[in-house]
Amino acid sequence: MTTGIPGRESRPSAAVPSTATAPRPAADGRRTTKHFLMCRPEHFTVEYAINPWMDPAAGADREKAIRQWEELRSAYEGLGHRVSLIEPVEGLPDMVFAANGALVVEGRVYGARFKHAERAAEGPAYLEWFVRNGFDRVHEPAFTNEGEGDFLTLDHVILAGTGFRTDLAAHSEAQEFLGRPVVTLRLVDPRFYHLDTALFPLNGHNVAYFPGAFSPGSQEVLRRLFPHALIADEDDAVVLGLNAVSDGTHVVVNAEATGLRRTLEREGFEVVPVDMSELRKAGGGPKCCTLEIRG
Ligand code: ARG
Repeated sequence: MTTGIPGRESRPSAAVPSTATAPRPAADGRRTTKHFLMCRPEHFTVEYAINPWMDPAAGADREKAIRQWEELRSAYEGLGHRVSLIEPVEGLPDMVFAANGALVVEGRVYGARFKHAERAAEGPAYLEWFVRNGFDRVHEPAFTNEGEGDFLTLDHVILAGTGFRTDLAAHSEAQEFLGRPVVTLRLVDPRFYHLDTALFPLNGHNVAYFPGAFSPGSQEVLRRLFPHALIADEDDAVVLGLNAVSDGTHVVVNAEATGLRRTLEREGFEVVPVDMSELRKAGGGPKCCTLEIRG
């Protein structure tokens, strides 16, 4: 784990704490109360493989997945966030990964259109939830996109992943519908098939990410946009540590991401560790289970 400051190793050393003289680019003391949509993993299984984490032969324990998911939900509620629920649909084992269901910014709902047939029915199911709950600015997408799995919203920009799931054309479709600049980032490592497996917003203006998940050009874009980003290493990335949810003060993160947890704490964040090991068998972590409803 290093800070984004060139030449500056961020591992704490016993003698001189590495942050003693460094600027504090990360936690800015502001937090926002959020509204999340989640889907209880009542029909969770790993019965097909559409990413390298999934092995149908390995078997997943649904009861355990439900317990872990309930802990995540309580963690959010304990932090003062509001959690709404969408009814799980039988035969859609990945529907627990609500982040993929849509992208919602200022009350505008950009619907998802899944790449794989196995998840295709989730797009309309999520869109219907929004319509039923009074959202009237809803866009049925023409292009393949997997919602917040590949679109991460900051104050002035939306970061958008492509390479495995979301079509490049969906980036401009989202920009046009939402009226916000969308910046394309190319993912190159199949283990990090959605943008939210490799990067998360710390707040409205800074991010943490694992550079190795991105093409050289996209790494350069990230360095330019976020010179004070927190840089995670592969050890944190391979436990899906970057699949985290920050409210600007607290960061809900996979417990196994120990290097990232230390860095976040040193930068002034309060770490809320969660165990999502069962859902990780489908390639998901805390953020995957969480769709943010903005406005
Ligand atoms: N099994 C699911 C898939 O491959 C996992 C989705 C994880 N969601 C996410 N936002 N990264 O589509």
